This record gives sequence, structure tokens and C-alpha cells, in this order.
Amino acid sequence: MRARKTTRDAAWLAVALSDPVALLADHAHCEKKAAANAIGFIARYPERTAIVTAMAALAQEEMGHFAEVHAMLVARGGVLPPDDGDAYAKALAGRAGGLSQDDRLVDRLLIGALIEARSFERLALLGEHHPDPELRDMYQRFARSEARHAALFVALAREVAGDRERVDARLEALAEYEQRLVEDGPLRCAIH
Ligand SMILES: [Fe+2]
Ligand SMILES: [Fe+2]
Repeated sequence: MRARKTTRDAAWLAVALSDPVALLADHAHCEKKAAANAIGFIARYPERTAIVTAMAALAQEEMGHFAEVHAMLVARGGVLPPDDGDAYAKALAGRAGGLSQDDRLVDRLLIGALIEARSFERLALLGEHHPDPELRDMYQRFARSEARHAALFVALAREVAGDRERVDARLEALAEYEQRLVEDGPLRCAIH
């Protein structure tokens, strides 16, 4: 899956490129939170073997991303600042609902898919337009990973629900909310 493009992609790119070191710091925290989110699924759903297996691999891959982004940050004179949170991801997490445990799990997986899909869009823009060739290469590689992760989360949600049409309808509703968050939220020198 891909996130929809927004009317503000060009404006976001200009803000994001205004401070490459600050952007790397935010990006490192995003990769750390992606790994923590994967571990969170293992903690919450230990008996779901397919999810635990997928999330164990994902947590390792995201920590690999973290280490690489952190190294790029340090090489450019930066230091990882405290994590000041991610209002976008928090707002999305707040949409996880549903009456049954399965419904809530499906929502959490779909929210994971949407964050990965938006990360893909933004990293792909950086991979195309960043003036630093080393970073351009990294953003391009990571964009491909995040697109694959988005597809993984959707596949897991369909497996849990066993009802593709219902999952796709829920994904559509959550995607509309995600789109509004991006269109209406503040423009920050940050991935989201
Ligand atoms: Fe990542
Ligand atoms: Fe990811």
C-alpha cells in the first residue's frame, strides 16, 4: 500500500530540508519507536505466533535503521536529543477501537501500516531531493523497506480478521483520518 500524496508535500519537503541534522535526529527517534512498537506487539500478543515471528524480525530491522540514522547524525556533528514525542503517531494510535480483541489488534496493525506508508512517502521524497548524496542513498533504501513494512502490516491484519473486505473498509476509514492529520497538522522539520 501507499499513502496518498498530500497538497502539502512540497511545503513539508522545504521545511524538512531546512535542517538536515534536526531531521536526522527526529528520524532516528522514529526508527527507535518503530522497533519499540514491534516489541510492543510481542509483549501484548505473545500467543499470536505469526505476529511474534514477524515483529521479531521487524524490531531487528528497525533497530538496524536506527543505528544507521544515528551514525549519520553523529557523523554530521549531531547528538541524539531527548525524544519530544510524535503527536501524529499518538493521534493515530488513539483511533484504535473495536469491540473485540481481534478488532483492536486489526486496528493497531492497520495504524502501523499507515505510519509505515506515510514514512515511505516522505523518505521517497527525501531520497529524490536531498542535496546530500549519502543521505539520498539511505533515504531511498529505507523508503523501500517502509513500503514493505506497510504491506506486511496489512497482510497480518487480513490474516487476523480473515475477512479481507472488512479490513480494507477499515483501512480506508483510518487512511482518511491519517490524510486529514497530515493535511491539517503543523509543518515540522520531522518525518511526520
Ligand atoms: Fe525503518
Ligand atoms: Fe518500518
